[in-house]
Amino acid sequence: MTLYGIGLGPGAADLITLRGRRILRSVDTVYTPGRLSRSVAVEHVAESTLGDLDFPMTRDEDELRRAWREAAAEVAPVARDGDAAFVTLGDPNVYSTFGHLRRTLDAFHPDVAVETVPGVSATTAFTSALGVEVEAGAGLALREAAGGRSPTGPDRMVLFKVTDAPATHEGLVDAGYEVTYGRRLFMEQGETVVTDDPEAIADRDYYTLAYARRPNAGEEPATAAFAEAERDARGDSESTDTEAVDG
Ligand SMILES: C[S@@+](CC[C@H](N)C(=O)[O-])C[C@H]1O[C@@H](n2cnc3c(N)ncnc32)[C@H](O)[C@@H]1O
Repeated sequence: MTLYGIGLGPGAADLITLRGRRILRSVDTVYTPGRLSRSVAVEHVAESTLGDLDFPMTRDEDELRRAWREAAAEVAPVARDGDAAFVTLGDPNVYSTFGHLRRTLDAFHPDVAVETVPGVSATTAFTSALGVEVEAGAGLALREAAGGRSPTGPDRMVLFKVTDAPATHEGLVDAGYEVTYGRRLFMEQGETVVTDDPEAIADRDYYTLAYARRPNAGEEPATAAFAEAERDARGDSESTDTEAVDG
């Protein structure tokens, strides 16, 4: 039978896909990598369906490999005899714990069939939450900014794991970026925050991302010119270049 890697979406119960929910409800066992994904999963399936897997909070690679081998050994027989699911927040193939499980199964239990069901990733959901348009043809890079890191280079970046926003902000602004932060976007657990002020989210919360953009990155789409007509219609007199770009 099959192990399904199912994307739950960013954290609101109604942002899972119909297919994801249908398969989730059809499998015998649902494995979750953490408390948050567990709390979303139980919106769709009975708690008794949830399986137990332990994940150590460590960067020690030997310990991690050992934990994933144990997890794969637990999941493999269940997915051989019936159907099972491993859920992740967002999409299972974007910066996700599911990749570790799939690679470990491929290596040690290659007879287990694996399929993934896409989910609404934070990488795309941030656009709605932050009111940002990534224009057609624009390049967008994904990076990690844990522990105050400020990766630079591409004109537009989504930074994951922003755990020290003030330090990250300093590096990004020095490199010429404008930055907006989003915390717990579309999540039912905790408070959603969207802000340009890093001090407002100075406390550590793993579920924080940043969108960093160099002003005037790339070309403006033809319809950006409509912003001017819109301003004239409203009777605004001040010209704001960023309005035309950010739409
Ligand atoms: C390991 S990545 C998982 C990404 C996930 N697989 C996806 O497709 O969205 C975890 C990072 O994603 C970001 N993230 C995930 N969900 C989020 C949300 N609802 N709001 C803000 N950031 C989120 C945070 O930066 C977090 O540190």
